[in-house]
Amino acid sequence: MKLFLFFFIIGHAFAAIPTKEQQFADSLLIVLSNASRPDVRPGMVVASPSREAPNYYYDWVRDTSLTMKSLIDYYEITKKSSIKSKIVQWVYAEEYRQNLPTFSGLGEPKYNIDGSGFTGAWGRPQNDGPALRALAMIKFARILLKEGDSDLIFKTLYHGHLPADSVIKKDLEYVAHHWRESSFDLWEEEKGMHFYTLLSQHVALQEGALFAQEMNDLGASEFYQQESIKIGQFIKDHFLDERVGLLVSIERSSTLGYKNSGLDIAPLLGLIHTSPYQNLFRLNDPFVVVYVKSLIKSFADLYAVNRLYNDLGISLGRYPEDRYDGYQTTKTGNPWFLSTMALGEYYCQLKKQLKQNPKKQDDLIEKQFQRVLFHSDREGHLSEQFHHENGLMQGAVDLTWSHNSFMTAMMSCGFIR
Ligand code: NOJ
Ligand code: NOJ
Repeated sequence: MKLFLFFFIIGHAFAAIPTKEQQFADSLLIVLSNASRPDVRPGMVVASPSREAPNYYYDWVRDTSLTMKSLIDYYEITKKSSIKSKIVQWVYAEEYRQNLPTFSGLGEPKYNIDGSGFTGAWGRPQNDGPALRALAMIKFARILLKEGDSDLIFKTLYHGHLPADSVIKKDLEYVAHHWRESSFDLWEEEKGMHFYTLLSQHVALQEGALFAQEMNDLGASEFYQQESIKIGQFIKDHFLDERVGLLVSIERSSTLGYKNSGLDIAPLLGLIHTSPYQNLFRLNDPFVVVYVKSLIKSFADLYAVNRLYNDLGISLGRYPEDRYDGYQTTKTGNPWFLSTMALGEYYCQLKKQLKQNPKKQDDLIEKQFQRVLFHSDREGHLSEQFHHENGLMQGAVDLTWSHNSFMTAMMSCGFIR
């Protein structure tokens, strides 16, 4: 076994590292394949093709919303009709599942591949889902409006009726009425109030208010706007921290027991997932800067791969105390592709904001991409994680979210035109 691993690592070290553009093309194909499984309800996306160890053959509202957001960005650039059809299919799949009874209503995090809610024990509700879905749908609706293609909007996406019976408005109503309630975090582990969830909700309602106004739903627009402001204030009042900059969670009622540093990649994900709309924090805000520094320092020290290949960017995981190794929660956590890529995307967005020292920023950006490509299998595949010591991929194979994080980073850095 040891010998096998040895040859595997040696073989891996000699395989040519793909270019960013090659990886983008492969990631797009894999995302589309995970979004077009013959045994899955059309429009739904499996989190990974892996059906056991771990079984990720389900559709998570969060993963799917983020995936569709990246396809919508890609459609905006390329105007490929096949991509548009995929997005339209997704709109109908969401309409279908929004109207099914589930344990936690629209906060239900995970669905079976036939579209029905998962009924096993799970961390529910997860209230980031409806916010992320609304953000992606609003972006799509705006593109449709520009194209003069408003049929889908008025039939399915938005109208002012109450109780809400259109996809976007249902989510906005849910967010506006439930944001004060505690829910499980995006890692599905701790119940409380979370920076990531709240920032998604804040921005969804902010954009929702603007969109409602465009749809001439003026009373609702004002209501969404007010709730959005309250959420923004709540974040500013409770999540700023001298030590780690931005806190991950507060008011925790159900905890892992070993997660105590307050430091997590989730706020960084929140900042980039709500870009370009969020304007609560500038990316060079002193608290954000302290936070990103703390993240880098903590993971740089934690993972041996960061010391071994120190000419590459920093490998980041979910949070320093993580014990989920992609199979079990009794081990040492690993770096994740989507976390590592998030830092690269952050650098790109920061570069746009700072307009100074572009060479230094370009260097940091390139190194993050090279880190991700280095730990891939170099044939286009990206699992959920890579091992903190030997650097080899592990956890769910071809995690859709790993691939779409690569795609959004490429697009947001301006590498895809
Ligand atoms: C699956 C969850 O999605 C993941 O976040 C968690 O760490 C593991 N289960 C272990 O609880
Ligand atoms: C586990 C992750 O913690 C969670 O964020 C994700 O939604 C699921 N896996 C599915 O990818």
